[in-house]
Amino acid sequence: MSSDPDPAVIARLRSAGCVFAEEEAGLLAAAARTPADLAALVELRVAGLPLEQVVGWAEFCGLRIVVDPGVFVPRRRTELLAREAIAAATPSAVVVDLCCGSGAVGAAVFAARPHIELYAADIDPAAVACARRNLPGARVYAGDLYSPLPVALTGRVDVVIANGPYVPTDEIALLPAEARLHEPRVALDGGPDGLDVLRRVIADAPRWLAPRGHVLVESTRDQAPHLVAAVRRAGLSPRVSDCVESEATVVIGTREARR
Ligand SMILES: C[S@@+](CC[C@H](N)C(=O)[O-])C[C@H]1O[C@@H](n2cnc3c(N)ncnc32)[C@H](O)[C@@H]1O
Repeated sequence: MSSDPDPAVIARLRSAGCVFAEEEAGLLAAAARTPADLAALVELRVAGLPLEQVVGWAEFCGLRIVVDPGVFVPRRRTELLAREAIAAATPSAVVVDLCCGSGAVGAAVFAARPHIELYAADIDPAAVACARRNLPGARVYAGDLYSPLPVALTGRVDVVIANGPYVPTDEIALLPAEARLHEPRVALDGGPDGLDVLRRVIADAPRWLAPRGHVLVESTRDQAPHLVAAVRRAGLSPRVSDCVESEATVVIGTREARR
């Protein structure tokens, strides 16, 4: 269908509280094949589904990433993690995107470094299926963190990326309804202080990293000092990258050439 926004759709979205009703109406019209299709998409959006799950894609690092229902919607703030991973990856690097969700971060790195060897993994089967659509050039596994990766990768990985869950359990109730009701709890809940999964990512990284390899994780700015301590405990050298404008923080641990 034409992507010209229909005034009736704009009004319906606006009355449901959609702040960018005009823009959303255009995206919904472009995603619909028929008027009946459009009506169904509008109803899903009015019911509170994230726009990206309704239209089936999200923009990330200039790419169109497929987002299936029930899969975490990649956030713009995570583009910092992707940029840091691209900077860390040599053209032929071995890169692992853990907690890959839709595979957005891995896809961004692959777009910038098309000759890397890319692996991705997630514990949620819906995310794995979605990531396989976004990462046709990668091997995508289902399972807990590093456990599904081929053993042959031990000590060979140049860049481990993880945007895992990092919301403290008690703060889940404070999240916007779109996230709380339509994104899986496993994508959000990081345990009592939010860092259960990311600490495990960092603690197990040395076993997988090649000399001078890097592990990169996204967190909040307040959580970063705790992750820097985890990086030091793992015997890696820490660095923090922060972007005030996008409220993004990335903690990086580097394995020195000699340990
Ligand atoms: C915040 S979402 C981020 C997804 C994706 N990296 C992104 O930036 O869009 C966290 C993801 O971690 C996955 N996850 C949570 N715990 C996990 C675990 N123990 N092992 C593997 N994946 C896990 C969730 O299923 C979810 O897809």
